[in-house]
Amino acid sequence: MAGSIRPRGYPGAMTAQRTLVLLKPDAVQRGLRGEIIRRIEAKGYDILALAQRTATAEELAAHYAEHEGKPFYPGLVDYMGSAPLVAIVAEGEGVIPGFRSLAGATNPTEAAPGTIRGDLAREWDLPVIQNLVHGSDSEESAAREIGIWFPELG
Ligand code: RTP
Ligand code: MG
Repeated sequence: MAGSIRPRGYPGAMTAQRTLVLLKPDAVQRGLRGEIIRRIEAKGYDILALAQRTATAEELAAHYAEHEGKPFYPGLVDYMGSAPLVAIVAEGEGVIPGFRSLAGATNPTEAAPGTIRGDLAREWDLPVIQNLVHGSDSEESAAREIGIWFPELG
């Protein structure tokens, strides 16, 4: 139950998922780390790991390999490497789709009110959509991305 206290090893812990969340450079620059982390915690997910740093070119190439060659890729790598970001591993049953629901649609103009992107982001005339957060989109992506940002958890 979201909000209940469940120590590691509680019955059912084996069914929990892990997801990789990034608070992108626009979230850090706008001072929205606390607001976004508050929403993750208020939903009832656990934060297993958290680190702020400026992403390396190697980390971004690995993380965004699926987008290489797309028109927005150079702008995406510039944006994500422009300033510090915060990488987070969040845990809980259904956290992979659950965090994507909290984040809302990719384009902040289309993201529903109540979501992170819908409430806190807007469109700008920029080469890439700036939308505050990343969340893994499948169990395979989550395992791969956690390995990139937190190899010690692998
Ligand atoms: P994310 O990976 O960041 O959680 O976002 P997503 O799944 O909703 O979006 P995805 O298609 O994976 O795209 C990754 C990020 O690239 C930027 N983007 N810009 N047309 C554009 O300008 C465009 N398309 C994508 C966004 O920052 C998006 O989150
Ligand atoms: Mg994506």
